[in-house]
Amino acid sequence: MNILLASAIDAGAIEELERQHDVVHAFGADEEVLHEAVQDREVVIFRSGVMISGRVMSAAPRLRLLVRAGSGLDNVDVDHARAHGIRLVRVPGSSAPAVAELTFALMLNLARNVSLADRLLRQGHWPKNELLGRLIEEKTLGVVGAGNIGSTVGRLGAAWGMRVLGCVKTPSEERAAALRSLGIELTDYDTVLTEADFLTLHVPLDESTHHLIDAHALSRMKPGAFLVNIARGGVVDDEALFQALTSEKRLAGAALDVHEREGEGTHSPLEELRNVVLTPHIGAMAADSQEQIGHRVLELLDAFAAGGIDRATRDGELVV
Ligand code: MLT
Repeated sequence: MNILLASAIDAGAIEELERQHDVVHAFGADEEVLHEAVQDREVVIFRSGVMISGRVMSAAPRLRLLVRAGSGLDNVDVDHARAHGIRLVRVPGSSAPAVAELTFALMLNLARNVSLADRLLRQGHWPKNELLGRLIEEKTLGVVGAGNIGSTVGRLGAAWGMRVLGCVKTPSEERAAALRSLGIELTDYDTVLTEADFLTLHVPLDESTHHLIDAHALSRMKPGAFLVNIARGGVVDDEALFQALTSEKRLAGAALDVHEREGEGTHSPLEELRNVVLTPHIGAMAADSQEQIGHRVLELLDAFAAGGIDRATRDGELVV
């Protein structure tokens, strides 16, 4: 098949793809470059950082399959794919442990000022007395979006001795029981928002979650709480967060792996703040997870080539 690889995936998977198919690379390309590169392609494989718009798809009359090598669907025009008979599959499960572990790394980093301590030490300082941190044990962890990733974060929180509250879009008794077995109490969004010492976000970006954490939401968080956004830039209003961390000093700190503007050369409005930790959308960047995702991408392509994509997909993989 003619494949456009619009994002870097696992190196072993790329080698295998190139052995079996005609592969063109356009990693992280903008819409114009994708528009050009996609013209004779039948398959596009992509992650976050590129936009697979209706215009890009329209430039490829032979396009039959989109493979999202991860879970988020905020950078692909799903309606356009559906309307034009282009299949869309994704690999949502494999990155959950990686994203959950990074969430924890960020929480611990915030609680104990790890990045700040490292920065100051490299500058020749020994600021021991400035770096008084907090325990996470016995604190309340609030998980907004206790799905695949969020419930893994909650399970880790319970293991660290935290009280864990979670909320989901469609609560049910079964859901509550499943979360309870992981040490997570299912409750409503308001309770999670207002009672959390550490609030972590694990919701997709769509109209209902855009600026979910805005000035109003931030003003309702517990004074001295920490915020972690590892979901999507746009779920948090970065400007409002800047205010909450500076003039209002309501929050103790924030960690953001995802940002309203992402990519080489972009700057976060929060980058000057000492109590903020910033990472470049690396939640899923664990080699183990990327190997699994790469392997699954190859399986899905084989199934598609053999005409059996519907039968081959697992829970949550088949989008269109
Ligand atoms: C995802 O949605 O799976 C993550 O954002 C990982 C990525 O594609 O970079």
